[in-house]
Amino acid sequence: MKVIVTEDYAALSDAAAEMIVELVKSKPDAVLGLATGETPLGLYERLASDFKANGTSYKSVRVINLDEYKDLPASHPQSYARFMRERLFDRIDIQAGNTYIENGTAESEEEECRRYDLLLDKMPRDLQLLGLGSNGHIAFNEPGTSFDSTTHVAELSESTLRDNARLFGDISEVPRKAYTVGLESIMQAKKILILASGANKADAVRGMIRGEISENLPASILRRHADCVLIADGEAAAKL
Ligand code: GLP
Repeated sequence: MKVIVTEDYAALSDAAAEMIVELVKSKPDAVLGLATGETPLGLYERLASDFKANGTSYKSVRVINLDEYKDLPASHPQSYARFMRERLFDRIDIQAGNTYIENGTAESEEEECRRYDLLLDKMPRDLQLLGLGSNGHIAFNEPGTSFDSTTHVAELSESTLRDNARLFGDISEVPRKAYTVGLESIMQAKKILILASGANKADAVRGMIRGEISENLPASILRRHADCVLIADGEAAAKL
């Protein structure tokens, strides 16, 4: 894994944005696997500004997202579908029909997972963006998830519920389950870009880079990927 340490969050966001803009310019019909969470907010802000200033076009780009809370409709203020629309899609020229995310309110979990796996197979990702959970999760693949996992419904760990409660007001409001792309599917992307910012990620970053490759720390699987880049700010990289 290539590790880039930036001075701060702004520089992390600049570096990530540069990578994605370069990719979209060189391959206008790129398939991007994108992520939610606070970490990519600066990156999305920069993609939107670059679109406004330089017109980098996403008309032929397709985006397939990692995860979605179970039972939240796409219109819910905390759904990841809404997050993506507000933070990125409504601010660039991507076509709504070219964006994909799990349907949190699908009638059958099994069919929804199958539908998503077929989509992932049909749309090989040129780049997969990831955030990092403070417990080492990627997407909603919590510690203990099989490295062979495909799309599934995950039970969120207590630490993830606590981490994500800040966005819901109260921990009791956080859905306890979520659809997530599996670890095997993440590893199929041609390139992976993982971002980590802040002191609360320092242990997970250290475990991912220096610990053993183990299902106890899902992000450690990324060391087996041939083209994976970590961009971490100084705080997140402090324990390396
Ligand atoms: C969430 C999401 C992940 C995200 C991670 C880190 O639970 N499911 O996709 O990468 O946790 O979030 P944040 O960037 O807000 O720290």
